[in-house]
Amino acid sequence: MQAQPTHIQGVSLLTVADTFGTPVYVYDAEKIQAQVKRLQEAFNAVPLRIKYATKALSNLSILKLLRKSGTGADAVSIEEVLLCLEAGFPPEDIMYTPNMVSFAEIQQAVELGVMLNIDNLPMLEKFGQTYGASVPVCVRLNPHILAGGNAKISVGHIDSKFGISILQVKAITEIVERYQLQVTGLHVHTGSDILDAAVFLKGAEILFEAAASFPDLRFLDFGGGFKVAYKPGDIATDMEDIGEKVSAAFLAFCERYGRKLELWFEPGKFLVSEAGFLLVRANVVKSTPASTFIGVDSGLNHLIRPMMYDAYHSVYNLTKTSGSEQVYTIVGYICETDTIAAERRLHTVDTGDVLVIQNAGAYGFSMASNYNSRMRPAEVLIYEGEAHLIRKRETFDDLLRQQVVLSF
Ligand code: LLP
Repeated sequence: MQAQPTHIQGVSLLTVADTFGTPVYVYDAEKIQAQVKRLQEAFNAVPLRIKYATKALSNLSILKLLRKSGTGADAVSIEEVLLCLEAGFPPEDIMYTPNMVSFAEIQQAVELGVMLNIDNLPMLEKFGQTYGASVPVCVRLNPHILAGGNAKISVGHIDSKFGISILQVKAITEIVERYQLQVTGLHVHTGSDILDAAVFLKGAEILFEAAASFPDLRFLDFGGGFKVAYKPGDIATDMEDIGEKVSAAFLAFCERYGRKLELWFEPGKFLVSEAGFLLVRANVVKSTPASTFIGVDSGLNHLIRPMMYDAYHSVYNLTKTSGSEQVYTIVGYICETDTIAAERRLHTVDTGDVLVIQNAGAYGFSMASNYNSRMRPAEVLIYEGEAHLIRKRETFDDLLRQQVVLSF
């Protein structure tokens, strides 16, 4: 079973809930730093570059923490690029991996000096016409691998909108030759929640094969997708095993290729998921003939993963850590069936108790919305044994701010 902490770095989570109010996202800086270190150590045999997937959690203080821990960043929108620059990442440490954006956005990214990762042929052609050999570029390949926790987060298969098919490598090299493009990187990302070293090795083999057609490479980017344990009994990525196997294959390839390349990864979940806790308060405990519901002061507006991916998030009662237990279904306050967790055994919950939703660091706040005209929560970072507010709770004024009210 996952640990159910009442304190992080000696800071009481109940005190955090009382001080900053609920709902509140709380992040453990030490855990994030430890995950970076674990990945670095697993790949210490190769020149590894970590490009943190900003989309998982894009708070500026988190980005700064990751930069301080030695990572670069992967951004998927120009706004994420700007956030990464704001957090102090040098442009050359930022990889921009857009999908279906306008060429104007590509040009903006080039002007900002970040590395471009192009994922379709018409865009590569336009890139060539505009920049020729003057701006190095990375190409995102679609390896046709079906991998990932579920269909919505599997992106490397043949029907996916992402990447340029490996069956189109010849078309890529024609464009490269026509414009003397300098392809310095090749990229694949197959999906999220990938457990198996075999999937990364398969991705690697495909990159190695394609690499033969690109003589100017400096790096190969294997994407993100390492699985973390969400459920009791879930197996998490064996990072040390992946590190050993992928590094060995990579070094053998570099030998054949005749050049020392860098190996890039873009993890999101692996670095921040387990470091995040969403603290919510029980508004209502309601028994029906079928179930006992706990209705909390949050919902799909703050954590959409259970509804969007049927994702499992562990929940525990922070206010009562011993005594009697009962089975509950934990739901949100949104006018939808926003079940956060079905049929879970918790220490008996009363109105006002604080519950903890685990694994809330990745794709929690970053996918939050104002649905039902609710405000988004505050965010708190526990850093060096102290709780720091890193984003204020939204206020009603924030909901009004961009609205233009007609004077009928
Ligand atoms: N690189 C690329 C190009 C990606 O598209 C993604 C995630 C990542 C890296 C990071 O993947 P990670 O290591 O976090 O699995 N919202 C979903 C996950 C969608 C991920 C989209 N792309 C979820 O909550 O499960």
